[in-house]
Amino acid sequence: MSEGALVVLIIFISIGAWVLFMVYLRAAPKSAPEIEDSIMAPGSELTPRPRQSFDDAAGVTRRQFLNRAYVAGIAVALTNFALASLDFLWPRSTGGFGGKINMGDASQLRSQLESSRVPIADGATNILPPGIFLMTYEGTPDAAAKVPAYVLANTAQTGFVALYRKCVHLGCTVPFCNTSKWFECPCHGSKYSINGEYRAGPAPRSLDRFRVDIVNGNVVVDTSTIITGPPRGTVTSQPQPEGAHCVTISGA
Ligand code: FES
Repeated sequence: MSEGALVVLIIFISIGAWVLFMVYLRAAPKSAPEIEDSIMAPGSELTPRPRQSFDDAAGVTRRQFLNRAYVAGIAVALTNFALASLDFLWPRSTGGFGGKINMGDASQLRSQLESSRVPIADGATNILPPGIFLMTYEGTPDAAAKVPAYVLANTAQTGFVALYRKCVHLGCTVPFCNTSKWFECPCHGSKYSINGEYRAGPAPRSLDRFRVDIVNGNVVVDTSTIITGPPRGTVTSQPQPEGAHCVTISGA
């Protein structure tokens, strides 16, 4: 459900709940007169004096009205909260982080990425949600087939790599350095190859990633599951930087 549709639904439900509440108020049977037993008429012998309802037409006292309004208000608020929670938790089938993202024609993407050697990132396209890089795999299918994380990510079959931009050290966003052709984290200097393999710094492993499939000739990135990156020491391509580093932190 889209955000706009959810807002409209919530508004309609709120209005509907309020209309139902007002109908209920009008239709509620008149309650029996309440007995005010603390105020006695002068000269009477403990004879209780009936108290009049404040609104005979509606058949409710002020207290009853306020109580019902209070309950109705809470019910509307809880309904809105439940709908908002449902929308938040509802799995997205397409688009957006958490769903399957159709990146478009695989052969076009392959030629673009192989000639530029610059990963497609969020911001470069409206297709990718924040936090993902798409690149072609620069190792061989045989090398990819030996790395469990690459098997889960379907790397050998597709020849594409979809990386999670979150540094596996402490979670900073990792930019791509166009001179070294590595990903270089500005926070503490961890470095990863163009396919996200660990090369330097305090990061405990390679970048996490997502499964890629080719569906009807299109590249589809499944962001519903984050695949843990392969361990340090995984070197299936680009063992050395191709130019100057963008991030130089001593000790990294
Ligand atoms: S968060 Fe990236 S190196 Fe620390």
